[in-house]
Amino acid sequence: MGSYGEAYRRSIQQPDEFWAEAARGIDWDVAPATVAGDGRWFPDGWLNTCHNALDRHVAAGRGGQAALIYDSPVTGTVRTYTYAELLDEVARTAGMLRDLGVRAGDTVVIYMPMVPEAVVAMLACARLGAVHSVVFGGFAARELAVRIDHARPKVVLSASCGIEPTRVVEYKPLLDAALEEAGHRPDRCVILQRPQSVARLTEGRDLDWAQAVRGAGPVACVSVAATDPLYILYTSGTTGSPKGVVRDNGGHAVALHWSMSNVYGAAPGEVYWAASDVGWVVGHSYIVYAPLLAGCTTVLYEGKPVGTPDPGAFWRVVSAHGVRTLFTAPTAIRAIKKEDPSGNFARKWDLSGLRYLFLAGERLDPDTYHWASDLLGIPVIDHWWQTETGWPIAADCVGIEPLPLKPGSPTKPVPGWDVRILDADGKDCPPGVEGAVTVKLPLPPGALPTLYRDEARFARSYLERYPGHYLTGDGGHLDADGYLYVMGRIDDVINVAGHRLSTGSMEEILASHPDVAECAVIGVADELKGQLPVGFVVLKAGAERDPGELERELAALVRERIGPVAAFRRAVVVSRLPKTRSGKILRATMRDIADGNPYTTPSTIEDPAALPEIAEAVQGK
Ligand code: COA
Ligand code: AMP
Repeated sequence: MGSYGEAYRRSIQQPDEFWAEAARGIDWDVAPATVAGDGRWFPDGWLNTCHNALDRHVAAGRGGQAALIYDSPVTGTVRTYTYAELLDEVARTAGMLRDLGVRAGDTVVIYMPMVPEAVVAMLACARLGAVHSVVFGGFAARELAVRIDHARPKVVLSASCGIEPTRVVEYKPLLDAALEEAGHRPDRCVILQRPQSVARLTEGRDLDWAQAVRGAGPVACVSVAATDPLYILYTSGTTGSPKGVVRDNGGHAVALHWSMSNVYGAAPGEVYWAASDVGWVVGHSYIVYAPLLAGCTTVLYEGKPVGTPDPGAFWRVVSAHGVRTLFTAPTAIRAIKKEDPSGNFARKWDLSGLRYLFLAGERLDPDTYHWASDLLGIPVIDHWWQTETGWPIAADCVGIEPLPLKPGSPTKPVPGWDVRILDADGKDCPPGVEGAVTVKLPLPPGALPTLYRDEARFARSYLERYPGHYLTGDGGHLDADGYLYVMGRIDDVINVAGHRLSTGSMEEILASHPDVAECAVIGVADELKGQLPVGFVVLKAGAERDPGELERELAALVRERIGPVAAFRRAVVVSRLPKTRSGKILRATMRDIADGNPYTTPSTIEDPAALPEIAEAVQGK
C-alpha cells in the first residue's frame, strides 16, 4: 500500500506513466505504444473487453470459480455461473447475434430485467465489438422509443417481463409500443421468455431467445481499437432528449480494473456486490464489467432492499454469498432503516465477512451514514461519480490508503481526477466556498469521450462553460484538508431514489396537458428518496379544474410517458410562477421555499407576490 497523496500527485503530474502502469493490468491484442494522444486514451492499443472479463480468467485457471451469482427473491431462484459457464453462455449468445448479422460497430439495445441473460447480452456484444445500449426497465415505451431512434439498433434484446414486488411488469407490450412509436426498425427482436408471463412473439420479427441461442455456435473475441465504443448509456440531461454517454473499450477496461483494487480494495476471487440495476451506470461498471475484469465474483440481485421479503434482504444476500464489498445507494439504506430502525433484521445474519459498504448515486446524509456505521461496524464510504465519468471521481481509496472519513464528504478526489471548484468567473474558489464542481482536462481513462452522434452537445453541455474544464453539473466545495463536499445539482437534473431524472422532460409532459398554460417541476427534499419531483402548474384562462383530479391526470401522464421510476405524484395549481423580469423561472428560489430553507427574494423578480403563493401551495400539500 502506498500513500494516497503520492498516488494522486503522480496521476496528475505524470499521467502517462501512471496509466501506462495501470494498463498492464489488461490483456492487449496490440499493446498501446501511446498512452494519451489527441484527447483519447491508448489510441493505438487493440483489445477485447469480454476477453479481459472472461476468457483470460478461464485461461489463468479461474474457470471453476463463481463469476456470477444470480439471487432473485422475487422468483425464489439462486443460481451460480462459474467463469467457464459464463464464458460458454456469452460465446454462444455472441454466436446468435453474429448469425443475426451483428458485427463490430453495430448497436444493440438491451431492455431487460435483472436476469443473468442481461449480463450475458452485454458481454456478448462486447465480444463481437458491437455497441450495447441498455435501457432501464422502469422507463416507459416512449423513453425506449427515443433511445431506439437515437441508437438505431440492428437487434433489440428483451424479455417477456420484469418482476416488481407487487406486480409482474410485462416488457413485451412496452417494447411493441416503443417500436410502433419509433421511426427506426431493428432487424430482429430476441425475447427471453420468463415463466411468470410468456409473451406473444411477432412473426417475422421476434425470436425466442432460448431457441435462437440453442441453434448458435460459440464465437471468439473480435479485437477492437481501444478508442472504439463499448457501449452507449443514455442519461437525463436538462432537456427532454437524453444524452447518449459513450464509453470506449480501452480506457474503460484500464480504469475499471484499476479501481477495483485501488478504490474498493477488492482482490480477485472475492465476492463483490453492487445492489443496483444493469440499466444504470453503477450496474454497467460495478455489477458487470469491473468485478469480472478483476476476477471477482459478482452478485446479480433481482429484488429490493425491503419487501423481498423484509428489511433483512440485503443482509441475507451478504451472509449467504460471503459478500466482502457491498455497494448501493443511500436511499436503499434509508428504506431499510425506516422499516428496521433498530437493526434487528441485520443481527439475524452473519455479516462478519463484510468489510466495506460503499454508497453513491446521491448525497449521503450524515444520519444514514451514522446509522449504517453503527449497525455494521465497518467503514461506510460515500463516493461520488456520474454516468458520464463511469467510475468514482471522489472516494476514500481504501486500496491505496484509507483516509479518515468525514460524514457528508465523499473524501478526496480519486487519482486521475483534477477536481477544481470554480466561481462564476471561472476562478478557483478558496476552501469552504461553494462553486461549480469541475474537473480540469484531460479526464482520466474511462470517462466519456463524447456523446453518441452529438459532439456539439458534448461540447455545449460539458466543456464550454469553463474552457479547459469538464462541468459536472454539481455544486460543492473543498475544505481546508482537501476533502470534497458535493451539495447537489446546479442544473435541472434531480435524483429520485438514486435514479437520475430530468425536470425539463417532466415539464414538457405537464405542458402538453390541454389545461396547462405553463409549469415548473422542481426536486423537493424527501426523507426516503432524497428528492421527489413536484410540479407547479398555471392553468389556461377559463380552465376550471378540481386540483386533485388534475393532479391524478398529470401523474398518470408522466407515468405513461417517462415511466413509474419518475415517481411523479404531486402537482400544485398556482396563479403564476415566480420569474425574473426577463422571464426565467426562479427554480432555485422555489426549491428553497419548498424545502423550508431561508431564501431571499431575488432583486430581478418580476412579481414578488408569486413567492408567498408557492410557500402556501407547498404547505397545503
Ligand atoms: N421495471 C419496472 N418498474 C420499475 C423498475 C423496473 N426495473 N424499477 C422500479 N420500478 C417501478 C417501481 O415498481 C415503482 O412503481 P410504483 O410507482 O408502481 O410503486 C416505481 O418504479 C418507483 O420505483 P423505486 O424508485 O424503486 O421506488 P420504490 O418505492 O418501489 O422503492 C426503494 C424504494 C428505496 C426501495 C428503491 O428505490 C430502491 O431500492 N432504491 C435503490 C436505488 C438504486 O439502486 N439506484 C441505483 C444507483 S446506485
Ligand atoms: P448518475 O449519472 O445517475 O450516476 O447521477 C449522478 C449524479 O448523482 C451526480 O451528478 C450527483 O448529483 C449525484 N451523486 C452521485 N453520487 C453522489 C454522492 N456520493 N454525493 C452527492 N451526490 C451524488
